[in-house]
Amino acid sequence: MSFRIGQGWDNHRIVTGRPLILGGITIPSDFGLDGHSDADVASHAITDAIIGAIAAGDIGMHFPDTDPRWKGAGSLQFLKHAVQLAAEAGYTIGNVDSTIILERPKLKDFRLAIRESLAATMDIAVEQVSVKFKTAEKVGPVGEGRSAESQAVVLLVKA
Ligand code: C5P
Ligand code: MG
Repeated sequence: MSFRIGQGWDNHRIVTGRPLILGGITIPSDFGLDGHSDADVASHAITDAIIGAIAAGDIGMHFPDTDPRWKGAGSLQFLKHAVQLAAEAGYTIGNVDSTIILERPKLKDFRLAIRESLAATMDIAVEQVSVKFKTAEKVGPVGEGRSAESQAVVLLVKA
């Protein structure tokens, strides 16, 4: 097969006293995201999209949140590992498109930094990585400021 497509989704609860890390970038914020790892919801969605594209299970299978090795782990290492799995399966990353859904703070000034961080981790060009931002229009858990969500699709190309 020349191409494989993958989709990923993730959600983390908003809490105080933790940093807000998106795509490996720490965003100035008075709250963060809860989780066993650094709770980088954007990296998790992209990681799952890559793992899904090669039908290799899901992020929790490769990095169980019961494993003390991953407590507080930087999620870019999960992403790097997924790219390695794809390479072992004979695929390179064609492009990644993603959306982070968070009511506040405004993220658009961090777009390039997040794209550069993700691209460097995946060892691809920044032009191959898209990151979009949306509010949830004050509706539902994301809109009420209780959680953050992220979605991603990835296209893998046969190496
Ligand atoms: O959700 P909404 O359509 O109102 O978002 C409008 C724009 O605001 C988005 O396209 C995005 O550029 C920006 N935005 C942002 N940070 C957020 C949510 C949205 O920069 N947390
Ligand atoms: Mg997660």
